[in-house]
Amino acid sequence: MIDAPDERHRQFDRLRREHPAHLDEASRTFVLTRMADARAWLSDASQWKDADQAEEGALIRLFKPPNMNRPGDRNSGIGWMDDPDHARVRRPIQAALVRRTAGLRPAVEAIVAAQLERLDPQGFDVLADFAMPIPVAVIGTLFGVDTADVPRFRAWSEAVLSIFDPNRTEAQSAAGGAAIEGICDYLDQAMAERRRAPTDDLISDLIAEQAASGALSDSEIRVNCFNLILGGNVTTADLIANGVNLLLRNPDQLAKLRADPALVSSAVEEILRMEPPTEGTQRVAARDQDLAGCPIRMRQVAAVMIPAANRDPSVFKDPHRFDIARRDGPHISFGSGAHICIGAPLARLEARVAIAALFERFPALRLADPTAPPRWRPIPHFRGLEALPVTAAGPGDGRQPIGRQPAKAGA
Ligand code: HEM
Repeated sequence: MIDAPDERHRQFDRLRREHPAHLDEASRTFVLTRMADARAWLSDASQWKDADQAEEGALIRLFKPPNMNRPGDRNSGIGWMDDPDHARVRRPIQAALVRRTAGLRPAVEAIVAAQLERLDPQGFDVLADFAMPIPVAVIGTLFGVDTADVPRFRAWSEAVLSIFDPNRTEAQSAAGGAAIEGICDYLDQAMAERRRAPTDDLISDLIAEQAASGALSDSEIRVNCFNLILGGNVTTADLIANGVNLLLRNPDQLAKLRADPALVSSAVEEILRMEPPTEGTQRVAARDQDLAGCPIRMRQVAAVMIPAANRDPSVFKDPHRFDIARRDGPHISFGSGAHICIGAPLARLEARVAIAALFERFPALRLADPTAPPRWRPIPHFRGLEALPVTAAGPGDGRQPIGRQPAKAGA
């Protein structure tokens, strides 16, 4: 049972009580921990998202990755843009993504089922063997990527991810740079092909939108497709693995889910609240102003500490308690306001299907070593496990669905 806060959350609790807008000198960033302040700050469209607006020395400038586009082209997607460009570019991309996601459940179910087939009930790693391959395959389906190209996509995504780490090494930066070039080449070729012969996928949707309205340039399509490919992979895999981890460590909640599989949607919201895969998002102050009772100067940065806001006791009863039937909230694990995560419906769909199917398939699923504490990856900003070793061996090794009794001999 997780209902007592760990050290990290004890610190967040203290900050929330005593310093709701705390200036972290090292990162030159204000840290917001109360839900009301977090929501108000993220939803204020008059502040800036673009890290280039931040004062020298602010950590956010290091988080803005190197150019993710062709040299000389605009180097960032909607995640770092401000209006009017942000609204112009986000609108058609969001419309296409929402439309595509709405029809995607059968494809997600098929991808999850195929991944389950590959698992050995004697022992597997939920993260590497189950959670990681799912979002890459799903995004591949959305983009019309050939199945044979999916492993290349996965390798590129992992290489690019390391360049978000402010402590990245030279070698990681170089590998990330090569991966960026690989993805740009791939997307340029895909755009040219779709222009010649449209196919049934998101890239064709955006090419059609470009032809119809002229709202998007090639460079904007390229860099934003790149961001969709990246944005969805590690975060969604972490959501799935974090969820399986929480459920296995809270047997009462797992029993509740097994008894009522329809709870999977609220279980995924509770997983997002308890262990948000992205831990922070920020805005740059566009003028001198007051921030939760503190003066903040123009170009100073304030970051929302998502795990802290998600456990604000003024919003959530017993906030450190994992309760899959919780009705209070909502959390802010996808951010808030004009920049709220564009992939949230997709991430939710994948997590619901994957978590339900995994527990249905393996009724005896348990941690390989229940005494070992979870090992979290040291990459800042992301909350994900290094690995989640489990076993499903034993009586009912996963061949019958939950809620159904094994057939009696002779029946
Ligand atoms: C569990 C999975 C995910 C989590 C926790 C997550 C979290 C977030 C957060 C916190 C933001 C910043 C919002 C803000 O500043 O207010 C964001 C933005 C974004 N996310 Fe996600 N995300 C997830 C999955 C995805 C997926 C599947 C995609 C793409 C298919 C995606 C693409 C994006 C993009 C493009 C933005 C920038 C939106 C904008 O600035 O207008 N994310 N996400």
